[in-house]
Formats: sequence, C-alpha cells, structure tokens
Amino acid sequence: MAKGFFDHIIHGGDYNPDQWIDTPEIWDEDMRLMNLAHVNSATIGIFAWSMIEPEEGVYDFSFLDRIMDKLHENGKAVILSTPSGARPPWLAQKYPEVLRVEESGIRNEFGVRHNHCLTSPIYREKVRKINTMLAERYKNHPALKMWHISNEYCGECHCELCQEAFREWLKVKYHNDIEELNFKWWNGFWSHRMNDWSQINSPKFRGENHVSAMKLCWNKFVSDSHISFFENEIAPLREITPDIPITTNFMKLYDGIDYQDFAKHLDLVSWDNYPAWDKGRNVEEATDTAFVHDAFRSMKEGQPFFMMESTPSLVNWHDVNKLPRTGLQELSSIQAVAHGADSVQYFQWRKSRGGHEKYHGAVVDHCGHENTRVFRDVSRLGANLEKLSDVVGQYSDSKVAIVYDWQNGWAVKHFCGFNNINRNYAAECIKWYEPFYKKGISVDVIPMDADFSKYDLVIAPFLYMLKEGTIDRIEGYVKNGGNFVGTYLTGMVDEDDMCYLGGFPAGKLKDVFGVWQEETDSLPEGIRNSVSYNGKEYTVEHICDIIHAQGAEALGEYGKDFYKNMPAVTKNSYGKGKAFYVAFRNDEDFVRDFCNDLIKKFSLPLDAKLTLDDGLVMRKRGDVIFVMNFTDDEKTVTLDKEYNDLINGEAVSGSVTIAPCSYLVIE
Ligand code: GLA
Ligand code: ZN
Repeated sequence: MAKGFFDHIIHGGDYNPDQWIDTPEIWDEDMRLMNLAHVNSATIGIFAWSMIEPEEGVYDFSFLDRIMDKLHENGKAVILSTPSGARPPWLAQKYPEVLRVEESGIRNEFGVRHNHCLTSPIYREKVRKINTMLAERYKNHPALKMWHISNEYCGECHCELCQEAFREWLKVKYHNDIEELNFKWWNGFWSHRMNDWSQINSPKFRGENHVSAMKLCWNKFVSDSHISFFENEIAPLREITPDIPITTNFMKLYDGIDYQDFAKHLDLVSWDNYPAWDKGRNVEEATDTAFVHDAFRSMKEGQPFFMMESTPSLVNWHDVNKLPRTGLQELSSIQAVAHGADSVQYFQWRKSRGGHEKYHGAVVDHCGHENTRVFRDVSRLGANLEKLSDVVGQYSDSKVAIVYDWQNGWAVKHFCGFNNINRNYAAECIKWYEPFYKKGISVDVIPMDADFSKYDLVIAPFLYMLKEGTIDRIEGYVKNGGNFVGTYLTGMVDEDDMCYLGGFPAGKLKDVFGVWQEETDSLPEGIRNSVSYNGKEYTVEHICDIIHAQGAEALGEYGKDFYKNMPAVTKNSYGKGKAFYVAFRNDEDFVRDFCNDLIKKFSLPLDAKLTLDDGLVMRKRGDVIFVMNFTDDEKTVTLDKEYNDLINGEAVSGSVTIAPCSYLVIE
C-alpha cells in the first residue's frame, strides 16, 4: 500500500498573511489568486510569534483564527508552523540566555532569525508553551493537516549552558571515565591529557581545533541538541494532536545536523530545494538535485517526501540573481515529483513589501495581479500536478544504493592528511550516482547503517570512517551474494577517528576486498598518474591508494611512478558475492565506464525501456514515467510501446520531441 498523507499532490507554500495584517482585502485577493493558481495548501505561522504573543503571556490568535477559517473555506490544507525559528524582541530582551553565543564567545544581540541557544531551558519552555497553545487552539480545526516544526534548524551555540551540556554528553558517551576520553581523543599527543571534565570546551578557532575526534563529538552533540530541541517542541503536539503528521524542513546536504538520524524522528521528510539554475550548468545542477532528492527519499523507505520550499522564479541571496528561463521552475518541480515528492511548495506565496526578502521570487509579485510570467508558470504547473495523482504515495524500489553518510562526511572533512584541498565527499558520491541516474536506474542514497540486503549493488565512495558494526555488515552483505564497491581510503578509522591497526582497509575488509592498502599517494595540481582498464587509459587525479592484491583479481593497473603495474582496480569473489576496490580518483570518464560495466555485468534493470537522446533523463515512479530535458537543445525519446500522456491526455508512441526545459509524463 502506498503511504502518502494526501490523495493529491500538495501545491502551495509559505504564506505570510501576518505581513498584510492591515490590508484584509489582500487576504481575499490571495484566496482568489490561489484558486486561479491551482494552489491547494498554505504553510502559515512560520514567523508569527511576535504577532500571536505580542507581550509575554498575552496571546492574540485572532489573525490565525481568521486565516485558518478563510483557507478552509477555500478548500486549502493548512500546514501550521511552530514559531521557534524567530522569536519576539521582548523574549530576547527579558531572557538574554535564549540568544546564541557564537564561536567567538560573544553573545549575539537580538536580530535576524535562527539565533537561539539549543540548550536554554527558558527558550525550550517558552517554545513548548506557545506550541501547546497552538495545538490546543487548532486541534479540531478542519484545515490543520500537518505540523511544520520551526524553520530550517541550523547553526550551533557556544554559551556556557551548551558547554556544560557538551560535557554531560561526553560523560555519557565515555562512561563517565575521563581516561576513556583521553584514550579515544589520543590526548597523550601534544600533552592534552585531561584530568577533569571542566577542561573541555567546544572546538574553537582560538582554542582546540586540532582534535578531530573531539570535532566529531561536537558535530554529533550539536546534531543531538537539535533533535532534543525538536523533541521538546513536538511533545505537546504529539499529545494534543496525535493524528497530525510532523515534519521540519531540511536544507539540502547541510552538514550541521545528521539528517539521516533526525529523519527517524519525523513522520515525513521535507526539504527546501533551491537549485542554482542561474549558473549556466543546468544539466549538472539537475544531477546534483536528483541526488539530494534521492537522499531525502531514502530516509523513509516506502514513503514520499515533501519539497517544502522552492522558488517560483529567482532567489535574492546569490551574488547575482538571474531570472530562470520559462519552463525551468516547472521542470524543476516535476523533477521533485519524479523522484518521490508528494508536494511542490514555494517560498513564498506573495512578495513582501519590505524587509530583507522583498526581491525574492514569489508567486504573486508586487504588481499584485495574475498577469505575470511567473504566475502563469505556477498556474500551469498547478493544473498539471492535478493530473498526476496516480503517483501520490508511490515509492520506487531501487536495486542500487550509494552510501552517502552524514557522519562519514564529518570525518572526511576533519582529518588532516593526504590531499587536504581536493576533498569533496558529496561531489565524490554524486559522481558515482550519475551513471545510474543518466541511464534511468533508480538509486537509493543511504547511510552506512542502512539495510544493504535488498540491493544488487552497493557503492560506498570514500567510506573513510566506519561506524560500529559496519565491517560485519559489509562482510555479511558480500558473503550472502551482494556486490560492493569501495574506493580509495576505505575503512581507515573508527567513529572516534582512530586509525585501524593491522593494515587498511580495516579488519576483515581486507579479506572481503582481497586487498591490502599499504600507502596512499596524493597528487599535487598538474601531476597525474594513469590507470589502464579494459584497454583504455584513464587519468589519476588528486589521490590514489597503493594496494596489494591478496586474492583479488586486478582489473586495472597504474601506469607510472614506483607503483607502476601495481593494481588500481580489483575484483574479489567473497562468499556468494563480489567486492570491487577502486583505488584511485578520476574526475573524467572512469567512473562512468566502470559503472556501465557493472550495469551490464549484473544486468541491472533500467526502470523503463525507452531510448533516450543523450542529455535526457528518465525516472519511473509507480507506473508513471517522467522524461526530462534540462539541456538547451531539443531532444527525442523513442517509446517502446503506446503510452498515455498524462499531461495532455492523449496516446503517444514512437519518437517524441521534448523541447528544452520541458518534460513528458506517461503511464
Ligand atoms: C529558506 C527559508 C525561507 C526563505 C528562503 C529564501 O529556505 O526557510 O524562510 O528565507 O530560504 O530562499
Ligand atoms: Zn547555548
């Protein structure tokens, strides 16, 4: 059974009628325009705290009452936000502890948003109170369909309360034993051995910033603090409105929070999608975005996600904000749906008249009417989304997974050594994702502790750090018939960034891969090595491991240096499965060629049998197939049989031309 929260695609977004409190006629106009634009939902109250609690303990819900009713009368689903993302000035003035202390140790003044301490008991209490009031007031309101918790949780606080909370967190992790911490942080080095927990402070530029184990602890602590802040926020909602699903809006691959961990606490994953369509690299941007969609989709198996925000035209926060060409916003939204989103939502419905975001794209511009390019685009998309209800709740199962693990991302970022400048974990993972994506093969993007057993192929680029149990899980997966690909610097350290002793990759991974990695070479800019694989020469850039085959078969060898003719790509049979080790980095076509070989070798099924021009991408969701053209040229897709074109309701077969920035949806 498909698991969606609605029976249609949600089309709407952030709506801030509180900014238009003195012009109620604009609210009425909003309802007319929403109907015209096929908007069926509004997310409200995100930054409404100073309106609903203008003074401490004085509540005024009149505006929310009115707008909830109005939205309901017009058939719109309300996604109601808790307001903790930005607090009223009185709160910061009376309780300075709620304000964040930056790394400098200086407490911020009131201003901007997201500027709160994650630990402050006063702030947590105030948030819980206002959330309780909201839940009590609207628990029976028929428009309330979902909770949107806070807004884009992010950042960290270095105040004394947070320092103390960090020490307490460490005491739990290290069993109240400072010697265990000394060992795990390798504090014998540089005379850092501690004899009291009070000697620990958060990592800082002017303090400790060279202990990578500590930085990993801090990352995890900050992530846990956000989650516990969130749990505090939702406790009254779970109690008062147990049937209303809860989400919070994530930000792309933001690494300040372990989203894969946080997602376990949500009913529905949602994220804010702002591709940089204005940079003249739309095909690459589409690939990156597809990867992110798949990462969020994979966080809740079997379940769709929401695209909680996107811009209907431009943003205001790039250096130069170019207008996207007509059709791109629509195509970008369709991409989200193709990858598993059950919503297309915008920031924001109506452009603010003043304030920082008044030039950020919105559905309704300052002119106030519907005769704009953007409004027409949004309305057309809205009408088209209504034709795609068949995909709602549908989840595509994948046979291929890329391991992209938030915590490994932290470890990769922190260690000092080898190539310190050319190291981008996400880009490395996307490189391995791309060949499958371009062939229309669905890929899950998973953490290293996910269940591998349902995949035919698992690729774990740059799996430098191994969470507890990972060695056994990889070993078990391959032994039972799985196919696993590892790359350079696999299995170097544990969760405390301590190197594994006894040779790399760690422990019995040496048997699984049939290789021993003795050294790692780093190549300065302009210096290259080469690898021959399948009769073709590929360049080696930035980094490569020097490995010995101990049971594995060499599929490719290095071309020069003292490791000339040593293995660079290997294959090992282990139990019923195979493990491949790709010891070098190549940013050109090696990964594509190698993955295409794997696709053939393991007969990985394409999601649909269409013949696509180079540059077209295809994605299947349920029985519905999306073909998308992010290029600047007209492209052709050849269909294997007759399909129903869901957008124009006609039968299609044979060759179909797809214009730039356009798409085809067939069933
Ligand atoms: C974020 C925020 C929104 C808005 C947009 C602008 O996603 O959540 O409130 O500021 O950025 O792009
Ligand atoms: Zn704090």
